Amino acid sequence: MQILARLCMTADGYVTTPDGWPPQVIDPVHGPGSHGIADFLKTCEAALMGRTTFEPALTADRWPWPDLEVFVLGSHRPEGTPDDVTVDDDPERLLAKIRAANRGGDVHLIGGPGTIETYRALGVLDKLELVVLPFLVGSGMRLTDSLSSQTGLEFESSRPLDGGAVEIVYRVLPHH
Ligand SMILES: NC(=O)c1ccc[n+]([C@@H]2O[C@H](COP(=O)([O-])OP(=O)(O)OC[C@H]3O[C@@H](n4cnc5c(N)ncnc54)[C@H](OP(=O)(O)O)[C@@H]3O)[C@@H](O)[C@H]2O)c1
Repeated sequence: MQILARLCMTADGYVTTPDGWPPQVIDPVHGPGSHGIADFLKTCEAALMGRTTFEPALTADRWPWPDLEVFVLGSHRPEGTPDDVTVDDDPERLLAKIRAANRGGDVHLIGGPGTIETYRALGVLDKLELVVLPFLVGSGMRLTDSLSSQTGLEFESSRPLDGGAVEIVYRVLPHH
């Protein structure tokens, strides 16, 4: 099992729009499986995210993770959370639950930056995958608002995606 943080970033370095949405939602090519996510999810069996990232799914038109077990880091269980979603306020206890449920597949750490930093600081983040979107938004949240700028990265691969985005995969180096 690997823990793979993967998120979309605008060409000017923001991981949200000015009003707090993941920037891929305003990309004209956005849809189920877009931005290379269908390929990426082939090795994944679980989704891990912070409560802030999770909550909009409760009012979305369709459940975003139909094929994944969902784990949420947060201090309370948001109203309407489906019974099969695991919520815990302790990052290490939540990780133990993910490991206990694991059948060999990878974990998509969706974000946000706060939750990515939490698992990086625990030394369990295996990769950081960025999908750089071909547009600018001018303001929003940066990955390094929370993620340590000391995070060591080693290039693994890159590929162009439909719609002009570029996927860049980095291995996260163990911190000293
Ligand atoms: N660009 C992308 O692809 C992408 C992907 C995902 C998210 N996003 C964006 O990222 C933004 C949210 O990021 P965020 O960093 O503010 O929030 P987040 O990581 O989604 O959630 C933060 C929450 O997770 C819990 N948490 C995180 N670390 C913890 C720790 N060490 N111990 C206990 N609980 C912990 C806390 O929940 P409690 O408050 O309940 O205690 C905290 O408030 C959203 O605007 C979203 O749109 C973008």
